[in-house]
Amino acid sequence: MHVRKAAVPALVFLLSALSFPALLPPATAASVSKDLQPSRSPDAAEARIESLIARMTVQEKAGQLSLYGPADIDTPNNPQAGSRNVQQETADVRAGRLTGLFNNAGLEGKRRLQQMAVNESRLGIPLIFGADVIHGFRTMFPMPLAEASSWEPALAERTARAAAIEATADGFRWTFAPMVDVARDARWGRGLEGAGEDAYLSRQFAAARVRGFQGPDLSRPDAMLATPKHFAAYGAAEGGLDYSVSDISERTLREVYLPPFRAALDAGALSIMSAFNEIGGVPSTANPALLTGVLRDEWKFKGFVVSDYTADEELVEHGYAANPREAARQAFMAGTDVSMQSGLYARYLPDLVASGEVPMARLDDAVRRVLRVKQKLGLFDDPMRGLDGPPAAQRTENPEFIALARESARRSIVMLKNERALLPLSKAGTKIALIGPFAEGTVDLMGAWSLSPGQSAPVGVDQGLRAALGADSSVNVVRGSGIESALPGGIDAAVAAARDADVVLLAIGESQKMSGEARSRTDIGLPQAQQDLAEAVAATGKPVVVLLSNGRAMALKGAVRDARAILVTWFLGVQTGNAIADVVFGDFNPSGRLPVSFPQTAGQVPYYYGHKRTGRPSPENAPGTAFRTRYLDATNEALYPFGFGIGYAPVHYDGVELSSERLPLSGTLRVRATVSNTGQREAEEVVQLYIAQRAASVTRPVRELKEFRKVDIAPGASTVVEFALTANDLAFVGRDMKPAVEPGDFDLWVGPSAAGGIRKQFALTRE
Ligand code: NOJ
Repeated sequence: MHVRKAAVPALVFLLSALSFPALLPPATAASVSKDLQPSRSPDAAEARIESLIARMTVQEKAGQLSLYGPADIDTPNNPQAGSRNVQQETADVRAGRLTGLFNNAGLEGKRRLQQMAVNESRLGIPLIFGADVIHGFRTMFPMPLAEASSWEPALAERTARAAAIEATADGFRWTFAPMVDVARDARWGRGLEGAGEDAYLSRQFAAARVRGFQGPDLSRPDAMLATPKHFAAYGAAEGGLDYSVSDISERTLREVYLPPFRAALDAGALSIMSAFNEIGGVPSTANPALLTGVLRDEWKFKGFVVSDYTADEELVEHGYAANPREAARQAFMAGTDVSMQSGLYARYLPDLVASGEVPMARLDDAVRRVLRVKQKLGLFDDPMRGLDGPPAAQRTENPEFIALARESARRSIVMLKNERALLPLSKAGTKIALIGPFAEGTVDLMGAWSLSPGQSAPVGVDQGLRAALGADSSVNVVRGSGIESALPGGIDAAVAAARDADVVLLAIGESQKMSGEARSRTDIGLPQAQQDLAEAVAATGKPVVVLLSNGRAMALKGAVRDARAILVTWFLGVQTGNAIADVVFGDFNPSGRLPVSFPQTAGQVPYYYGHKRTGRPSPENAPGTAFRTRYLDATNEALYPFGFGIGYAPVHYDGVELSSERLPLSGTLRVRATVSNTGQREAEEVVQLYIAQRAASVTRPVRELKEFRKVDIAPGASTVVEFALTANDLAFVGRDMKPAVEPGDFDLWVGPSAAGGIRKQFALTRE
């Protein structure tokens, strides 16, 4: 696929090359204020945009496509942050040489800059302020991967809405979220920003988060433009190494990595971020097949593409562009409309247009896309919208959001193991030793992307437990070890505390800094110091509950793997301690399910349930079978499969009935599963439907999630969950890269995870 060359009259080049303000139609005060009148109709809005484009200089157009981080704040989340200075920033705003700023916290500064843009720049085009609002703003919610463990997209929609309400009160109308990269290699540090390894689950969360951020109407002051990122296949980084090559087939791209983007755009997202990585030799930020072919031609995307941070400039380091000018041309012509941080567009686009290397029509198209989005956000009608509220210090915490943070945190916890019903603990009379580097303090609760100032006070694990126990509190807190290194005397103190307790809560895992951007790990196990601590504590013979802090699927071993109970607590945000206490003491029955498989060892990664069969599949649980697709030293099963998680009430899958053994191409197959709660308390179960086509014109994964339903089941009761499958659900990317549906035999499973479940079969037939 390649970009169509737009025919641009030579005269336009000439005019633009020669254009300078004095020769242009004057932008008088009257015309500026007319542009800022509320629009009365879509036609009037379009006319306003066209009139602006007609009056903009090439420099102003390039400015509308240039976005920068703040000059006055050093944000730790990007390299070279703060490399620009305030004078430059101010001059650029006055000259209409930038479209907006991002991660520039604080209302005061934004207000000043917006006033400057509207009143002092020639055409008065308002700025847009963006930010990495990934999992909360003031109220920090669980990391997206944690929240995906709820298998409740509606919950993610609510937390995204809350984040948007808080961030827009601080003047941000644009978020660089949701991150919708499917991530199948736990070494990659950014998996925690997305929804895990599965395309279907990721699609549901992608769409929900877009709906949450944007709300019902983009022009509302509390609506935030969503930016699904990173387009595309950034999560397929070779070796799990951030920024590395994604060498995947077009089929895998289309079948696994693109669908969540499509879902986000279908939900209304009007910007999208191009990725750092290359695919098959072409960096995504300069990939016309992706940015023009897929996005514009196939998907009819009407919004704009923003590059990732300096990703256009990095085309030179990639070895794809000979110099920065060439990098700007390639990124822009491929379809990257807005350049983030490098300044390359502002620097080179005017000259590239003058030389004819970039058609004016392409420049206008990009500017039009940006202005239309600004228009939709209501920025032309009311540029000070969201900037006129009280300063952060005067805005009070919203108790509803804090309650939502607790709700979403406890729904994000996944219980992997609970031998002999060790949990929930009784609040009365249980002597608890809370041991481990995450036992106290509030440092490692949030996960990456909790940068906004003035956040609500977090609740640590010890605080949450003590609050739950009240005056009867009997919690002995001992760190026992640092996160990556031993503490002098730490293990002795921990062992003494364990001996003196009825039960040990072992709060161990990864620090916040061990996952996130540029935080790939070769080892996805626990740091040795913590493993040593776990072994020593377990050797006391006291029952151990592992509280695992983690930003990725981890490989658990030894005493950690063998602990009687394991709770995956990820990074849960501001209400971490309370949410953990809710689950530990049974005030909340854990209902989370893994959005990523937990492999047995790091050597199995990339590990995901939906792999291909191969010509020599390995029988399950059969180490030592020769000439099969298997390692010498491990079976192929996960330690804990995708979709897995247990609650306090045992759930039984009684049976699955299909409405027919045949599904005609134009028909519907009804699948009814009966599931019962054989326990004493309410259960919440995620009933999952998987399918696999036995033979097709391209090989199919061993299983694919097609639907799921989270249901409440009363103690002793059964419920029937009904799914409806149509041929559409069975489509795949055919040999010609187009959607294909092929009649044939299918296996179907309904169960509690990607492993096991009740199996049925049916045939997709023509009639
Ligand atoms: C780089 C990251 O890859 C991207 O996700 C983020 O939005 C930008 N930095 C801006 O902070």
